[in-house]
Amino acid sequence: MAAFIFVICQNGAESACKNEIANNYPQLRLAFSRPGFITFKVESGALSEKFFLKSTLARSYGWSLGHQTSDCSKDLIQSLLKQPDLSEAKHLHLWQRDSAIPGKRGFEPGETALVSELAKQIQTQLPADSSLPINRLAQPDDLVLDVILVEPNQWWFGYHYATSPPLRWPGGVPLIDRDVDCISRAYLKLEEALLWSGIRIKMGDVCLEIGSAPGGSCQLLLEKGASVLAVDPADLEPEILANEKLTHLKCRGRDVRKRDLKNIRWLFADLNVAPSYTLDTVEEIVANQHVVHLQGMLLTLKLADLKIVHEVPAMIERVKKMGFNLVRSRQLAFNRNEYCMMAVRDQFALRASRKKS
Ligand SMILES: C[S@@+](CC[C@H](N)C(=O)[O-])C[C@H]1O[C@@H](n2cnc3c(N)ncnc32)[C@H](O)[C@@H]1O
Repeated sequence: MAAFIFVICQNGAESACKNEIANNYPQLRLAFSRPGFITFKVESGALSEKFFLKSTLARSYGWSLGHQTSDCSKDLIQSLLKQPDLSEAKHLHLWQRDSAIPGKRGFEPGETALVSELAKQIQTQLPADSSLPINRLAQPDDLVLDVILVEPNQWWFGYHYATSPPLRWPGGVPLIDRDVDCISRAYLKLEEALLWSGIRIKMGDVCLEIGSAPGGSCQLLLEKGASVLAVDPADLEPEILANEKLTHLKCRGRDVRKRDLKNIRWLFADLNVAPSYTLDTVEEIVANQHVVHLQGMLLTLKLADLKIVHEVPAMIERVKKMGFNLVRSRQLAFNRNEYCMMAVRDQFALRASRKKS
């Protein structure tokens, strides 16, 4: 029997995501596509059971088990209950494909009211001896049964193994509080970037953020107990400026004085400029002899046109040459027309960040 995989991406990114995957995997054939949702037919043996999909734009993925269409949710729930993997699965992840670009007209990815309601209905229909958690964080390597509401009346079923942090989250969207009182969406982006990358910011870490106004990322870093050197010609929100652990340098990243860079452990960049300019700015800082303590970076890089995603591998190589062995890219669920690049000196630096201070 032919095998299929499903891929989730940002609404509107499906065409670029298809091309990216087709380039990386000539053995996959496009089968079905809706905004934010794609399936591919897989040649026998082309992917392993617990495959890792190399793609910046793919938010989540797994093996597809086909779909069911009905205007009656009871019928759809019955189809779910008949899925062969139900008894084996450790988790059930149920989500709707994105209806818009994140941040547009108040839309943010994550559990919708419809999904919350359906999750309650499904819970009551599960066998009495089942304790299948719905839309919770899966543990590493857990088998997860997926239900994707491509339309409210068209449910796609699938499964995957939670072999990476995003595959532990329902639909690849981290389980973070979207209603937090944050200064800007950058707060959510950074929280997701930290969870995805595995970088832990500890009390006392010295962080440099280039492109820090109005201050959402600084807000999160300060909450984590870090000291922040915020670089931006624009103004920060007064409540951020008032924090004694923050210093604002009201200038461009390239104009930061060398001696200000001492003790910097983590570098964040979130500039509304072309990616090559961001990398030029970062490169100058990394090449500076004062940044001996720098362990890694999280960079937001703009994708003015999603088609330029094919330039990502070259950018990764450029960052590796700056002295970072572990470099990865991902369009985060809370990114808009941009993606995130993590760069860490090595695995040791990543592990060290997780140790308690
Ligand atoms: C998307 S906003 C950053 C949001 C911010 N990270 C937050 O947490 O709220 C982009 C910022 O980059 C700043 N920027 C643009 N070019 C810059 C440069 N060369 N150096 C420093 N900041 C720059 C802009 O002034 C703007 O405030």
